[in-house]
Amino acid sequence: MRRGRPPRMPAHLLNLFDAHFRCVEGFQSTMDKHEIQRYKQADHDYLCATAPGEKDIVVESSHGCTIRAADGREFLDLIAGIAVCNVGHCNPEVAAAVKEQVDKALHTMVYGKFVVPIQVEVGELLAEITPAPLRTTFLTNSGTEAIEGALKLARKYTGRSRLISTERGFHGRTFGALSVTWREIYRKPFEPLLPDVHFIPFNDLEAARSAITDEVAAIILEPIQGEGGVRVPDDDYLPGLRKICDDVGALMILDEVQTGFARTGEWFACDLWNVVPDVICMAKAMGGGLPLGGFISRPEVMATFSDPPLSHLTTFGGNAVSCAAAKAAIQFMLREDLPAKARLRGREFMDGLREIQGRHTIIKDVRGRGLLIGLELANQQVTERFVDHAYDQGVIMGWTINAEAVVRLAPPLVITQGQIEEALQILEESVAAAEAG
Ligand SMILES: Cc1ncc(COP(=O)(O)O)c(C=O)c1O
Repeated sequence: MRRGRPPRMPAHLLNLFDAHFRCVEGFQSTMDKHEIQRYKQADHDYLCATAPGEKDIVVESSHGCTIRAADGREFLDLIAGIAVCNVGHCNPEVAAAVKEQVDKALHTMVYGKFVVPIQVEVGELLAEITPAPLRTTFLTNSGTEAIEGALKLARKYTGRSRLISTERGFHGRTFGALSVTWREIYRKPFEPLLPDVHFIPFNDLEAARSAITDEVAAIILEPIQGEGGVRVPDDDYLPGLRKICDDVGALMILDEVQTGFARTGEWFACDLWNVVPDVICMAKAMGGGLPLGGFISRPEVMATFSDPPLSHLTTFGGNAVSCAAAKAAIQFMLREDLPAKARLRGREFMDGLREIQGRHTIIKDVRGRGLLIGLELANQQVTERFVDHAYDQGVIMGWTINAEAVVRLAPPLVITQGQIEEALQILEESVAAAEAG
C-alpha cells in the first residue's frame, strides 16, 4: 500500500496516461487527470473556500481510517473530519442504515401531528448515553445550531441575559455561537454581537466564582478545549463550576460538539469528572458522518420552549436520514464499546508520542484524553514543517484554531494498534525533519 504523495511524475510523463491512471498498485481511479484538474479548478471558481492554501486532495473515497485521493494517493487520517468519523469513514452499518431509510422517508413535516420513529429512537439512545436526568433532546443540523438553541434556552429558562464563556473557547460561527467564541479576530468584523457576554480564563475557579452571579443565565464551555489547543482542566474545575452554578441558579452548558460520542474515552467528557451539566450540546460524530446535532437537557428545562408554543424550531434538524445514520453509529459505538477503545488506543498513542518527546526537544507537551490528543511544538514554524512533512508521507493531522503551535490528533476511534504504530513512525520522522529545518 502506498501512502502520501504519488510518485511526482513530470507533466510530460503524466501525458502518457490516457483515460485512467494508477498511482497505487491495484488502484483504478474513477477520474482521469483532466477531470481531477477540472474539479480543482471548479472548486476554486464556484465554491467559497475560507481556508488559506491550495487544495490538493480530490476525494475518491474514504473508509475506516483512510482517505483515498482520486490520483491514487492514500492517507492515514488522524483528524477524522475534525472529530466526526468516530465510527470510521463510511462505516458499513451507517451506510446500510442510510440506504434503508432513504427508501422509507426523507423529510415529512416538522411539527404538528407527526411522530418520526427514527428521531424517537435517536432520542432514546441519547438519553441512554448521557447522564441522568438529562433526557429531552432538541435535534439540530449542526453544532453551531445546537449552541444557538442552548443559549436561547438558558436565557428563556432563567429570565436572565448574561452569558459567561471562556478564553480560548470555540463554539461555532453563527451569531450567537460567535458571540461566545473567544478569538477576537473572528468576532470583531461581525460586531455588534450578542450583548452581555463575558469571557473568563479557562480552568480558573476563582474567576468563575466572581463572574457567575445571580444575574448570569449560563456559563458555556467545552469540558476539554478543542480549538483552544486540547486543554484539559484540573480535576476540580468542572465539579467546582457545577457547584457555583447551583449556588446562583445559572445553567451550566457543556459544549461537547468535539468531545462527545466516546472521543475522550467516555461517552461525554463530563463523565470524566462525573459532572452532570444542565445542557449538553452535541454534533460532529453524532451523525456518523451525516449532518446532525442536538442539545439535551432536563424535561422541565426544555419545556420552556413550549411556552409560548414554537419558541424554537428548525425545518431540517433531526432529518430522518441523518437520524438513521446516528442510530446506527451510536449502536455501533455501544456494541464495540468505543469509549473503552478510545481509552486503550489513546493510551498507546500518547505513550508513543511521549517516547518521541523524550528524544526530541521541539515537542513541548503531549496532552489529552482518549483519542483527543494535543501535541504542542516549540513554535508555529516547526509545527507547520512537522504537519507538512507528515502530510507528504501520507498522514493527515489537524491544527487548532486558537493555538497555532498545537497539532490535534483525533483519529477515527476504530484506528488499530498497527495504524498507530505506523503513524508514530511517520510522526517521529516528521519531528526530526521539522527539527532539522
Ligand atoms: C467545540 C465546538 N463547538 C461548536 C462547533 C461548531 O460546530 P459545527 O461546525 O457543526 O457548526 C465546533 C466545530 O468545530 C466545535 O469544535
